[in-house]
Amino acid sequence: EQQPILIQGPMPIEAENFAAKLEDVEEETSGNFVFYKGKVDDYPVIVMKTGKGMENTAAATAIAIEKFDPAAIINQGTSGGHDPELHVFDIVLGERTVNIGSLKTGHREDGEGIAPREWIPMDLMASEGSAGEDPDAENIRYFEGDKELLKAAKAVKNTHEEGKVVEGTIGSADVWNNEVDRIQWFHENFGTSVEEMEGAAGAQIAKAYDVPYLGVRILSNNKTNDGEYNPDTAEANQDYVYEVVKKYISKK
Ligand code: 5AD
Repeated sequence: EQQPILIQGPMPIEAENFAAKLEDVEEETSGNFVFYKGKVDDYPVIVMKTGKGMENTAAATAIAIEKFDPAAIINQGTSGGHDPELHVFDIVLGERTVNIGSLKTGHREDGEGIAPREWIPMDLMASEGSAGEDPDAENIRYFEGDKELLKAAKAVKNTHEEGKVVEGTIGSADVWNNEVDRIQWFHENFGTSVEEMEGAAGAQIAKAYDVPYLGVRILSNNKTNDGEYNPDTAEANQDYVYEVVKKYISKK
């Protein structure tokens, strides 16, 4: 039996266009999560509407892996630009994904205020000891995008006509940053190309089960270059990811 490819989308506008492209669809739900189980070119593909944010994504990913034993997972949707060279409708392939909410503050006493620029990255996967005390945990944890998925994605780059497709770093947290200086701080210190609220959560769980994983994120907005929010980007990204899936399964 063929193992399915899982396509994750957080919001209805980020999942339902892809679900509509599937043949022979059956719908299944678990908690908040909706699974559209169907086929692309006779190959099993499951689109998952995960809901927004890290917790929904982590839980949905674990449940889907246990239920469906997938061959690979693509987490896709919209994002906000951290790189001023990237514009609304450009797509970032997650060569790396990183949790940008995983931080440790400096030591400051009562009345000494807060200083976000002094915060340092914290790696919850570094050891079994206390992440607050362990020096090994003062590290950025990057999750690598799967090479085969990246290869398939790069091979169909020019099917995306509304913008360019680049490889980069996807930063995730349950935070929407609108402070340009803070966005620049992440861009400089974590190397982020874009931010969103799901990728690193799915990547962490996929890695725990050793399932190939790739984030594919289109910019729907970019505060660093006045890129206004455009929800139509969600559909354009699904059109591109559909081409990626067809390429990937043609090699299986
Ligand atoms: N910051 C954070 N999340 C964003 N998203 C789109 N743009 C941004 C941004 N600038 C995505 C998240 C989440 C929803 C709010 O849209 O992944 O699912």
